[in-house]
Amino acid sequence: MSDALGTKHLLGIDDLTADDIDLVFRTADGFKEVLARPIKKVPSLRDITVANLFFENSTRTRISFELAEKRLSADVVNFSSSTSSTKKGETLIDTVNNILSMKVDMVVMRHADPGAGVFLSRHVDACIINAGDGTHEHPTQALLDAYSIREKLGRVEGVKVAIVGDILHSRVALSNVLCLRKLGAQVMLCGPTTLMPHHAKDLGVRIAHDLDEALRWCDVANMLRIQLERQGGDGIANFPSLREYAMLFGLDRRRYEAIGKDIVIMHPGPINRGVEITSDVADSASSIILHQVENGVAVRMAVLFLLAGGMDRQPRP
Ligand code: NCD
Repeated sequence: MSDALGTKHLLGIDDLTADDIDLVFRTADGFKEVLARPIKKVPSLRDITVANLFFENSTRTRISFELAEKRLSADVVNFSSSTSSTKKGETLIDTVNNILSMKVDMVVMRHADPGAGVFLSRHVDACIINAGDGTHEHPTQALLDAYSIREKLGRVEGVKVAIVGDILHSRVALSNVLCLRKLGAQVMLCGPTTLMPHHAKDLGVRIAHDLDEALRWCDVANMLRIQLERQGGDGIANFPSLREYAMLFGLDRRRYEAIGKDIVIMHPGPINRGVEITSDVADSASSIILHQVENGVAVRMAVLFLLAGGMDRQPRP
């Protein structure tokens, strides 16, 4: 069993093999144990500087990465586009090269354009971690989601996972499908036809347009947020109203109880309470939503640690 990843960057889930993902999980197990200690810090990345470049809004992913970096003792610089020179017209490569010339080793980037991380990895000399590129991928979210399923159910292989909601605009959905299938889970995508991408049928998943059918089938339901900021028009161009969406695709207590079995409830956050999920389900004993957030730090520590281990480092004076 190898103790190194076969990739220099984490741009999408396909950078990782199933063995790589297993290595990330086993490394995260160790870091979870560190995070339970009174002093939640190890010196592993003491000689590494990480830049968190967030060209798109984020709360939990940004904080989760920053905490992961600090708990590994990395030096951290943060940048968000609302306060940066990108507003003055600077290109992405110029911005990043300027930051790298201050001797930054790793870049964690969130960007509105799909493929922004791949583009950057071809033009700059640093390890790049994709923290969400438009509607494309969000690999560390998929890793922490699969890790949370493994923690709750003891395995991922053979588990039936329904991913429900705005599949069309979700980077979490694609990364989850790729990651879960690599680990041998069965995946169903469920949502209105207008929020289901045409390529969904090529992903090797089941497709449903009826939430009750999906809930009866699955062991785990991952309820995605309606991405209001990506719908265009008045924010609900792809369905008649939020009320109708909630009636047909929202998970509430009545619907949960009608399934007649326990299923695990997940959500990547932020939640539109009362739209894709009601508070009585989101905050119930079946929900592992806050465990996902907690596991996010350990999984991101594992990714940073393993990628840093594979970097060519200059000898230090
Ligand atoms: C997700 C994202 O940004 O893609 N959130 C997250 O990373 N925690 C999902 C979402 O925004 O709905």
